[in-house]
Amino acid sequence: MMSPVVLIQYCVIFVAGFLVTTLSAAPTLLLFQGFNWVSCNKQGGLYNSLVNSIDDLAAALLKLNNSMYVTTVAGYMPGRLYDLNASTYGNEEELKSLIESFKNKGIKAIADIVINHRTAEKQDERGVWCIFEGGTPDDRLDWGPSLICKDDIEYSDGKGNADTGEPFPPAPDIDHLNPRVQNELSDWMNWLKTDIGFDGWRFDYARGYSSSITKVYMTKTSPDFAVGEYWNSVAIGPDGKPEYNQDKHRNEIMNWVHESGGGSLTAFDFTTKFILQAAVEGELWRLIDPNGKPPGLIGILPGSAVTFIDNHDTGSTQKISPFPSDKVMQGYAYILTHPGIPSLFYDHFFDWGLKDELTKLSAVRARNEITATSQVKILAYEAELYVAVIEEKVIVKIGPKIDLGNLIPENFKLATSGDQYAVWEKLP
Ligand SMILES: *[C@@H]1O[C@H](CO)[C@@H](O)[C@H](O)[C@H]1NC(C)=O
Ligand SMILES: *[C@@H]1O[C@H](CO)[C@@H](O)[C@H](O)[C@H]1NC(C)=O
Repeated sequence: MMSPVVLIQYCVIFVAGFLVTTLSAAPTLLLFQGFNWVSCNKQGGLYNSLVNSIDDLAAALLKLNNSMYVTTVAGYMPGRLYDLNASTYGNEEELKSLIESFKNKGIKAIADIVINHRTAEKQDERGVWCIFEGGTPDDRLDWGPSLICKDDIEYSDGKGNADTGEPFPPAPDIDHLNPRVQNELSDWMNWLKTDIGFDGWRFDYARGYSSSITKVYMTKTSPDFAVGEYWNSVAIGPDGKPEYNQDKHRNEIMNWVHESGGGSLTAFDFTTKFILQAAVEGELWRLIDPNGKPPGLIGILPGSAVTFIDNHDTGSTQKISPFPSDKVMQGYAYILTHPGIPSLFYDHFFDWGLKDELTKLSAVRARNEITATSQVKILAYEAELYVAVIEEKVIVKIGPKIDLGNLIPENFKLATSGDQYAVWEKLP
């Protein structure tokens, strides 16, 4: 998602996206987003700091015995894509070493791919910033106006095809219909795999170009795993809150996954995030759809839904649509017990002191082998109480209501709990 210019200026060249996940052939996946907009300030560099936290991350994530994924990019305003030495996250060697350290723990890495737009290196003779350099001795990625979308208003000398998606005003929008763009960006992504060690992609600002373009890059690079940031807006009712029915919202994301080719491609479940953060404010009745299923993308396409509470844009320093801060653990209790591919966020894990609670929840998920496609039965959905049983093995409760009646059978014992949430496991 594009971000306010002020932050782009703040972290321009330095912001390398960083994302860590666990993954296996079975859909028991967990993802860790290891960056925010201030990661560039990390003492000693983010890459080095994460190397030092690898045991904590492994404890939270590797109980699933899956591989974890990481990311890098050349920044949010990427220019010289092959030059990974300019990032204040660390240099190319440090990045490779981090990925190697993850791999030694059975953890893999995914890269944040910012390809919708690109920062020019030079102005042309008329003073327009439209001359790109790739960061290699040859002419790979050395582009000019013919590869900028012709309807890019800010860079009005574009001579390429019309943009296939949403515009990004602060930088030239790249013409992804051009075969040279497709080939050279795919080559770069394949270099990230072979030379740097990445296994998959986070497609940044996936609405910036059409799904058929995403499909091209998926086909040309065959990642083990990919997740798209298809950030659409939920319908808001007259009371200023999200409407109860968000089927249109989740169908748009589902259609994007299908039109982009599906396979190893997933999408962030923005529907679950927006509904869940409204629901925890005394409106837990929101957490069921008319079919009795979860109302987010996990209710219709759970195997391709990456659930999350906040990321660097929605929460953290940007706070575009933050989850209520005192209810974040209720959110995690929901996503870490429900289907979908849950992700943990750097800020919550490292800065908010939630590492131990999150690790306990992910351990419950692992022990009970809850997967992206596990079955959910919703037992209660009142204003102040939500209870669901997953695979008949795990029961989760969120909300302030204390009297649970006889919802928790005697053969379930408390596994972990915290402020306004509790999780039980079935006794063997
Ligand atoms: C994970 O692997 C360890 C040893 O490699 C094994 O003891 C454990 O049972 C595995 N856990 C799961 C959930 O598969
Ligand atoms: C970045 O640094 C590494 C050595 O640490 C070097 O191999 C690589 O060529 C450098 N990349 C660029 C674009 O200068």
